[in-house]
Amino acid sequence: MKQIFIIGHGGPDKLQIRESSDPTPSGDQVRIHVKASGINFADILARQGLYPDAPRIPCVVGYEVSGTVDAVGPRAEQSWVGREVFALTRFGGYSDIVLVPEKQVIAKPDSLSHEQAAAIPINYLTAWQLLVVMGSLKPEETLLIHNAGGGVGVAAIDIARHIGATVYGTASSGKHPFLMQRGLDHAIDYRAKDWAVELDRLTDGRGVSLIVDPLGGNHWRKSYQALRSAGRLGMFGVSVATTSKLSGPLRLLPVAFGAPLFHPLQLMNANKSVFGVNLGHMWHETEMLAGWIQILLKGVEDGWVRPHVDKTFPLAQVGEAHTYIEDRKNIGKVVLTA
Ligand SMILES: NC(=O)c1ccc[n+]([C@@H]2O[C@H](COP(=O)([O-])OP(=O)(O)OC[C@H]3O[C@@H](n4cnc5c(N)ncnc54)[C@H](OP(=O)(O)O)[C@@H]3O)[C@@H](O)[C@H]2O)c1
Repeated sequence: MKQIFIIGHGGPDKLQIRESSDPTPSGDQVRIHVKASGINFADILARQGLYPDAPRIPCVVGYEVSGTVDAVGPRAEQSWVGREVFALTRFGGYSDIVLVPEKQVIAKPDSLSHEQAAAIPINYLTAWQLLVVMGSLKPEETLLIHNAGGGVGVAAIDIARHIGATVYGTASSGKHPFLMQRGLDHAIDYRAKDWAVELDRLTDGRGVSLIVDPLGGNHWRKSYQALRSAGRLGMFGVSVATTSKLSGPLRLLPVAFGAPLFHPLQLMNANKSVFGVNLGHMWHETEMLAGWIQILLKGVEDGWVRPHVDKTFPLAQVGEAHTYIEDRKNIGKVVLTA
């Protein structure tokens, strides 16, 4: 099999393709011949040495794949063999063959390509947890999605449109026409303007009901301030760390020092709530995730879950794929193909 290893912390040159013999599934494992692997921003943070949850290097990252099952372990259901599936992988997804516990495998709907299926698990589960499970978004409410043009951002737009809420989003200006056509009500160019001032203007000073913020650091403070009464802030990433001029893990310092501290009395008196989401810490809750996936698959059937694959790269061109995302060119998902 072919796998992409992170061989050191740094630029895309730290990604290396290696070949080894095909693994044999054991226990409840299912072996998938991978057609498509989703890339997530966490993979880039892992390569840069900024992702505490990443395995020790050298390692193979990758949280999601789609492909065909060709073998199963003795405790897995034999009927998986030959079926087209997609799966959550606790790393190892940057590969043309993966072994996955059966409970993390889902039958792929015929209506989705493998590339589209690989774009579902992380983006849509994260967005679902943020908007619905913890964010309790209602049709009459307003939502601000930061990084609205990224994979999670586009998934969040789909879910917010389905709920019927009014959606604001921050993204690079070149992405605005696509995002508006996709369902965003108001696009904010946060790279050219202070997004908080712009949001204040657009909402006549009221603020919004829910903000989902993967930027981190001081943005969390600004997002909290931009909530209206009964508002909720969902924090789920630290994208700003990658822009710091510091080196190595020191780049997390602006995130740590810029982050707000929330006092219970302050929350109480402001009528606001804050919560965090890290899907990578939900592996003990696979039944809960499976329930959310079933709702999202119904969304595929009903047409409101529409995974958008912006670009695909062959596995061997993974460095170019990372550069494409780091250059902020992607709208929605970038996928590796095997
Ligand atoms: N906690 C969780 O469970 C969880 C799960 C998934 C993702 N996340 C987090 O959510 C964020 C988005 O992830 P994703 O996979 O949806 O992203 P993605 O598809 O890789 O998109 C990244 C986009 O983010 C924007 N961005 C903002 N700051 C950036 C920076 N410093 N460098 C490069 N791009 C930057 C860029 O678009 P614009 O410049 O146009 O905005 C870029 O195109 C990341 O912080 C990620 O770690 C968290």
